[in-house]
Amino acid sequence: MMEGHNVVLDTFAVALLFGAPGAGKGTQAAYLAETLRIPHIASGDLLRYHRAAGTLLGRTAQSFMDRGSLVPDALVVEMIVQRLDQPDARRGGLLDGFPRTYGQAIELDERLGERGGEVRIALHLDVPPRALVERLAGRWTCQRCQSVYHERFNPPRPDFTCAVCRGVLIQRADDRREIVERRVRIFQRETVPAIRHYETQGILRRIDGDRPIDGVRASLLATLADVESFELAS
Ligand code: AP5
Repeated sequence: MMEGHNVVLDTFAVALLFGAPGAGKGTQAAYLAETLRIPHIASGDLLRYHRAAGTLLGRTAQSFMDRGSLVPDALVVEMIVQRLDQPDARRGGLLDGFPRTYGQAIELDERLGERGGEVRIALHLDVPPRALVERLAGRWTCQRCQSVYHERFNPPRPDFTCAVCRGVLIQRADDRREIVERRVRIFQRETVPAIRHYETQGILRRIDGDRPIDGVRASLLATLADVESFELAS
């Protein structure tokens, strides 16, 4: 990114961040959303929030999530649409982990259209499957703010508390090897068709995510700055 500048969305619009489990969506998303001046809306984080709060949605989602399956489309779509109706999302949002099926993509396009909005750009963090298990096996997540760390690639503080909020770091139940492999298979089968949908529209940008975290971030920012419909503001 150019020093001293922010890339901003000019109207109500949504940016999508695609990537297989462990591709680095959560690692990159908070910074990107700050740069775009829109909220970071992660379907997985919202579902985990509902689980912790014990809502009906959270209780329904739990069994799907624990075995690495997708939560039914209708539930997730309503959750995201309601989140986009919040005041901080009046200019849009950076969606991380949503849409995850072709059906969710079509529904999102329709719901945005009803609000005079659209998907402006879809970013795909491309990481080969061999790297994903290693990343997830070493991942530690803040229980409170969902910041992510990695034992080797982004080490946490020695006492395993979060550098952002001092929350406790935990390992997610769905990061076990066999569950990760299932999540990757589901990504290939269900999410790749959603990615192709945006590729067909000409708004997909592929980013090589198999590089150090800073390099991936620089590519993401350069890609956003290159897209005509984004304006650069100082
Ligand atoms: P969700 O929470 O969305 O999980 P996911 O998509 O599987 O993605 P992850 O959070 O596992 O990975 P990430 O890409 O964010 O990687 P991260 O940045 O942490 O979904 C969980 C579950 O919720 C689903 O299985 C499903 O059940 C349900 N769900 C969610 N959305 C749904 C939807 N739309 N429809 C239906 N169901 C839904 O990075 C991983 C690790 O790698 C970290 O330790 C990080 O430090 C490290 N790392 C990151 N980048 C790099 C790098 N460049 N080099 C080295 N290490 C790196």
